[in-house]
Amino acid sequence: MASPRIALVTCPDVLLDPDWDRDLPLAVAGLESAGADPVVVCWNDPHADWAAFDLVVIRSAWDYFKSVEEFLAWADKCAEVTTLANSTEVVRWNVDKRYLGDLSRAGVPVVETRYLAPGDAVGLPDEGEFVIKPTLGAGALFTARYPSKERETAVRQVARMHAEGMTAMVQPYMRSIDVRGERALHFAGGRFLHATRKSAVLVQGAPYDAYKFPHPQLRTWEATAAELDVAEQALAAVPGGSGLLYGRVDVVDGDDGRPRVLELELVEPHLFFYLHPASLPVFVAATVEAAVA
Ligand SMILES: Nc1ncnc2c1ncn2[C@@H]1O[C@H](COP(=O)(O)OP(=O)(O)OP(=O)(O)O)[C@@H](O)[C@H]1O
Ligand SMILES: [Mg+2]
Repeated sequence: MASPRIALVTCPDVLLDPDWDRDLPLAVAGLESAGADPVVVCWNDPHADWAAFDLVVIRSAWDYFKSVEEFLAWADKCAEVTTLANSTEVVRWNVDKRYLGDLSRAGVPVVETRYLAPGDAVGLPDEGEFVIKPTLGAGALFTARYPSKERETAVRQVARMHAEGMTAMVQPYMRSIDVRGERALHFAGGRFLHATRKSAVLVQGAPYDAYKFPHPQLRTWEATAAELDVAEQALAAVPGGSGLLYGRVDVVDGDDGRPRVLELELVEPHLFFYLHPASLPVFVAATVEAAVA
């Protein structure tokens, strides 16, 4: 049988700075040694022939949130001519953090979240530190934490977001993150791969438009049974999510010490193979299997 042709989808900024996506060269090498024919392609490359691939795997399309409608239209078109992973249904659902509401309604423990769409009254917590962030975004863009005495600054952030057409999310600042960090559980082909841990990203007093280092003190982590349980509940609740090729579930602890989902990343999660080389063959096998299915 001919080698399966697999597109690994990235974006122009990653091609300019290859160190940004350290998974990509490892995935290429792993797929090549498994006998596949991987090609790195930008999602918005006008010359790409998506129908020529047996499988298109979204990996580091990290600029999509700047033109989400264009990205979703690309995903739909791509899925018409080949197999897209993850599926367009999943991608469409997952680009908008309102999915946390769906998970909560499905009984999955998530960080308590209120949504403020343009036109909504700006209801902010009366006490306790809180976080404002957008429903659509990445890299902690437009994200800041506020003590309740800085409500007025928070109101101005929400007003600015609304003026730009964004929906804001309000969450309690999960204090445990300063001690226990945020843990990410990575999955491929329906199997748990490994976990990583990073420290808190949001610095007190840092404005929403300040640069934030995305993975402070990133390291490997031994997932607990409680974390695995929450992550598996979250994945099981994804609409149309039975055939997910990859995924990452980020959890932080509530004041009761129990993990809650902060983010479920099914579009373009880092998988951090360089921290966990043994996971690469699992991802490669799942990818090849999806390509020949
Ligand atoms: N409610 C919260 N409590 C404490 N920290 C938070 C909270 N929400 C977000 N953060 C911090 O901000 C970071 C970015 O937030 P989040 O992961 O929700 O959005 P994101 O922009 O999609 O992030 P990324 O794409 O970098 O993973 C988190 O990794 C975490 O450190
Ligand atoms: Mg995140």
